[in-house]
Amino acid sequence: MSRSSNPYQDDRGNKDRSITREGKGEVDSTRKSGSTRPAPGGPFLAAENMTGGYGAADILHDCTLTVEQGQIAVIVGPNGAGKSTAMKAVFGMLNLRGGHVKLDGEDISELTPQDRVARGMGFVPQTHNVFPSMSVEENLEMGAFIRTDDFKGTMEQVYDLFPILKEKRRQPAGELSGGQRQQVAVGRALMTRPKLLMLDEPTAGVSPIVMDELFDRIIEVARTGISILMVEQNARQALEIADRGYVLVQGANRYTDTGEALLADPEVRRTFLGG
Ligand SMILES: Nc1ncnc2c1ncn2[C@@H]1O[C@H](COP(=O)(O)OP(=O)(O)OP(=O)(O)O)[C@@H](O)[C@H]1O
Ligand SMILES: [Mg+2]
Repeated sequence: MSRSSNPYQDDRGNKDRSITREGKGEVDSTRKSGSTRPAPGGPFLAAENMTGGYGAADILHDCTLTVEQGQIAVIVGPNGAGKSTAMKAVFGMLNLRGGHVKLDGEDISELTPQDRVARGMGFVPQTHNVFPSMSVEENLEMGAFIRTDDFKGTMEQVYDLFPILKEKRRQPAGELSGGQRQQVAVGRALMTRPKLLMLDEPTAGVSPIVMDELFDRIIEVARTGISILMVEQNARQALEIADRGYVLVQGANRYTDTGEALLADPEVRRTFLGG
């Protein structure tokens, strides 16, 4: 398939999609019309054989992560396994010695993080993912930093997705609860209308109820056609919503399968899911 038949060529691809609950119907009809699709010649994100680290020693060893369009891929693994490092590598914050990152069929391995945002990546890092002294609304405005068009509609979509943020839009983000701050962080990343949303432990430090609620919102975002790549400590619950799961150990792929298959694998359960 040539680039000219690529529906993303002339726009960001999400124009007709909503990240709101009301958008579901639209999305399904979009799918049937064929304007969303599996990427020609591969998954939407193909980060393959990534090898590299922060200095002389490699942290990632031949690590591969792929996400199909509109699907949820989840990375789990022990502390220090290199999950965050892998996310940074996909986002262009790490010099890779080997491997490549392709988005929508295009090799973006040489692009800066900012250029990757322009290509459709949104990243919510594990820590320091909001500006605490700025209001919720200012955080969302900061998220739209690369946009030159009117982003008010996107902000309304974020408020539809996370109604509490609209209520608290004038409050400093630092005064919000942990779960609400994570909503701000996700909302900020959505402001550029990403096609791939990358979340590093979005439910860290929140209660089980808030975790479930956040996962529901993430599923909703995926239903609009946005691909999700997510690191999670709550491995069992995250794999339940994962189309694809990756167990990383010492910077390498240990197990890769559907979320369902990993949850059913006795070895994975015993070693990584607490039995
Ligand atoms: N900026 C850095 N400079 C040097 N080494 C680092 C840096 N960040 C992480 N590391 C090292 O890289 C390895 C992988 O760390 P990483 O943060 O990717 O793990 P993780 O799987 O995300 O862990 P966690 O579950 O605790 O978030 C660790 O040995 C860590 O000490
Ligand atoms: Mg981490």
